[in-house]
Amino acid sequence: MEGFRVTGGEKIQGQARLQGAKNAVLPILAAALLPEGETVIRDCPDIRDAQAMAGILNTLGCACRLENGQARVDSGRLCRWEMPEELSKQIRSSIFLLGPILGKLRRATVTFPGGCDIGLRPIDLHLKGLRALGVRIREDGGVIHCDGGSMRAGNVYFDYPSVGATENVMMAAVLLPGITTIHNAAREPEIEDLQNFLNVLGGRIRGAGTKVIRVEGVQSLRGAVYTPIPDRIVGGTLLCAAAATGGEIELLNARPRDLKPVTEKMKEMGCGVWEMEDGLALKAPEKLRAFSPLHTRPHPGFPTDMQAQMLALSCTAEGESVIVENVFENRLSHVEDLRRMGADIQVCGRRALVRGVAALHGARLRARDLRGGAALVVAALGARGESTVERADLIDRGYDHLETVLSGLGARVERLTGGEDERKNESGIAAPFSARSAG
Ligand code: UD1
Repeated sequence: MEGFRVTGGEKIQGQARLQGAKNAVLPILAAALLPEGETVIRDCPDIRDAQAMAGILNTLGCACRLENGQARVDSGRLCRWEMPEELSKQIRSSIFLLGPILGKLRRATVTFPGGCDIGLRPIDLHLKGLRALGVRIREDGGVIHCDGGSMRAGNVYFDYPSVGATENVMMAAVLLPGITTIHNAAREPEIEDLQNFLNVLGGRIRGAGTKVIRVEGVQSLRGAVYTPIPDRIVGGTLLCAAAATGGEIELLNARPRDLKPVTEKMKEMGCGVWEMEDGLALKAPEKLRAFSPLHTRPHPGFPTDMQAQMLALSCTAEGESVIVENVFENRLSHVEDLRRMGADIQVCGRRALVRGVAALHGARLRARDLRGGAALVVAALGARGESTVERADLIDRGYDHLETVLSGLGARVERLTGGEDERKNESGIAAPFSARSAG
């Protein structure tokens, strides 16, 4: 099992360029099985979730290659509609394939999806949306069989604006004759990016970014070259890393409007934030201040994917910060590790009260989920002394070589390799992992 060794106290300083957003790339890769011909996705991050999605596409008969920051998908030989159980369990976003497979082959079988352990993450809204398009669905021991023989365009009403369910319906409907309207759609920037991608392929979709999306079915789609939007969550995490170390950073291609909910909170903490012609810059103050209560909400509210990193940052901010996680029911598991670093945090249900302490100290930590793991790295960067963060594999799901990016900004972060057993010395005391170059 791999981990990171972080030596705190070095100021983050410099420039970083963001790659394509994980949450844009994953549905786009799924949608790439819809067109005839080859699709090329540029700025594709080398992350585990994208590799897992590529693996599923290959198993379905598509040819998908991820290399040199590009994904190439040729859907010409798509022949299977059954998603492999093992791979589906690895990533939640395997559920995004349901819509496109149905749209193209009119039938699909999927195992209940996996992903981070941050709550129940049901798929009822995905299934409700597909049923509204005439899909007949049968669930049998964790396997979902979908028959799209009678699919037709229709009206879909979501009780809650689920990101994945909105995207699934868009992809299922793009090749359906007639007009599909999605009401109470999710409004995340990645939804708009999926719309733009599908339209570049020849689709006719509008309204993404608002609560109503209108999909006018087309007969066929053709392959294209596409560059997804930059990753606002990786960008936000790097801003937090800079703020935690009292440093400064320029995110060269960040889209300031996508990061607004995060940068507004960081301004409250005393950070200077500047919009650049093509990017964003942040300078941390000597001492961070607590922020006004932070409630995670669907876009344009505060993104749940940045909650953990902001919580880590608030641990050393002067005063009391309150954080309420409204989107997922089990997304405060990083608190336990932050307490091991000396943080003063009280949790009651979905609410965390953080009383800022003067400094955190290094500790042996363990990532429990993707963003919570990134938050521990942020905390360790600002802490006194050395920390190890176990389960780098969880962080690698959504960050492309985080240690390399942070090292390039002046931080001291190394990737460590070695299993549990190797980390015990003869006296049985846990020893550090062996270091691998940050590359
Ligand atoms: C996507 C993002 C994830 C982000 C989340 C919320 C991707 C690959 N992942 O996940 O990083 O944290 O949006 O911004 O884009 N729900 C149901 N029934 C459903 C679907 C969802 O009850 O059928 C609930 C979930 O359990 C959760 C909430 O709705 O509590 C939000 O989920 P959703 O918006 O669907 O998130 P994802 O698409 O899974």
